[in-house]
Amino acid sequence: MKRFLMVTAVLGSALAGAAHATTVAEVKKKGVLVLGTDPTFAPFEFKGADGQIQGFDIDIARAVAKDLGVRLEIRAVGFGSLMPQAVTSGRVDMAMSGITITDERAKVVSFSQPYYRSAQVFIVRGGNPGKFAWPASVKGKVIGVQANTTGQFVATDLLKPRGATLKVYDDFAAGLADVRAGRVAALIGDAPTVADLKKRLPGQFEQAGKDLAAEDYGMVFRKGSDLAAAANKTLARLKASGEYQKLLNRWIVQK
Ligand code: ARG
Repeated sequence: MKRFLMVTAVLGSALAGAAHATTVAEVKKKGVLVLGTDPTFAPFEFKGADGQIQGFDIDIARAVAKDLGVRLEIRAVGFGSLMPQAVTSGRVDMAMSGITITDERAKVVSFSQPYYRSAQVFIVRGGNPGKFAWPASVKGKVIGVQANTTGQFVATDLLKPRGATLKVYDDFAAGLADVRAGRVAALIGDAPTVADLKKRLPGQFEQAGKDLAAEDYGMVFRKGSDLAAAANKTLARLKASGEYQKLLNRWIVQK
């Protein structure tokens, strides 16, 4: 029995190794870098009019693949299963999805260096009809968050104890629809996505009150993978050549 278990364990990990690349060498061997992303998060990843997934993160991932000499394959994965299961299970080689670097997450995955400074903010209906403000008017309010995001984590830590009720959405767009309909007082989201929404849908949404928390985005890899170091090299190259700045100008609305 013991031997049988050992054999299946060895076989199991051999199969996992064959199916899922973890290291630079494995990615190079299979000739493709598989990126997992939740493409509902403009301007970092979203579907364009042509149905293609595009955005700031996608261009950075393309540069990482290019430096490795492989092609990039993009897989759409809902944020709830992307972080961290899609990465830890090896379903994808890498995840980029405006993913905030946290100590908790860093226990199970490896992050690149930070590549973008962001913040959690309150999104309300254009004109802020309820005069929502943070930290003043949280008590007794229903506030929306996206499942498994740092918005949910920070809301659980800071807003619940102050008497807010949280409404959890799998899909960020459903939360936005509820903001528009007045079903939640505010939705927590990432600052650059709010700036983008304001540009695309003028007058419909705005930020209310102060930023809740500053954070940094990182590229995500399987724990201990040398792909993280490779990604850092690409990031340094993009910054030194001015390409990083060009990508910022192309995709991200500057406040
Ligand atoms: N920055 C937040 C986090 O890491 C939210 C990211 C949501 N990204 C997305 N593509 N829906 O938890």
